[in-house]
Amino acid sequence: MRFLLVLLLAAAACGKNNEPPPPSSGSPNAQPESAPKKKNAADQARAMFDTICATCHGADGTGNGPAAANLNPKPRNYTDAAWQASVTDEDLRKTILLGGQAVGKSPMMPGQPQLKETPEVLDELIKIIRGFKK
Ligand code: HEC
Repeated sequence: MRFLLVLLLAAAACGKNNEPPPPSSGSPNAQPESAPKKKNAADQARAMFDTICATCHGADGTGNGPAAANLNPKPRNYTDAAWQASVTDEDLRKTILLGGQAVGKSPMMPGQPQLKETPEVLDELIKIIRGFKK
């Protein structure tokens, strides 16, 4: 009887060791650890603002980014409440997608037409711009 128990335990232990390794390696249902969790729209918009838009519009939204020094006209001061009130989200959306030239503004404002594919990121960019209002 004791012998049988030992055998059973051994078998159980053995079975454990033979279990396939945790899903990280190859089972079709596994979420591969190498695929980073997709950034949410707010994070994507923030990253985009910091790396692209802020070069002209400034990290503080006042239009004093390093690439704005020689621009004429200068990028808008986003903190200006009167300006904020004068434009609709739809206006902003259009300028960001199509660029300045398409809406009668400076051609130095580059369009980001690829944001058509990710309207939720575009919405978050607009929230960032609205957030500068003083
Ligand atoms: C190379 C410089 C540059 C970059 C980069 C840039 N912009 Fe602009 N942007 C401008 C300039 C200059 C204007 C002002 C155009 C005008 O008033 O004629 C402008 C205008 C705008 C406007 C319109 C403001 C208004 O007066 O209605 C919006 C919205 C805007 N930018 C958003 C963005 C966003 C979002 C990004 C990043 C995805 C971005 N811009 C990147 C230069 C830039």
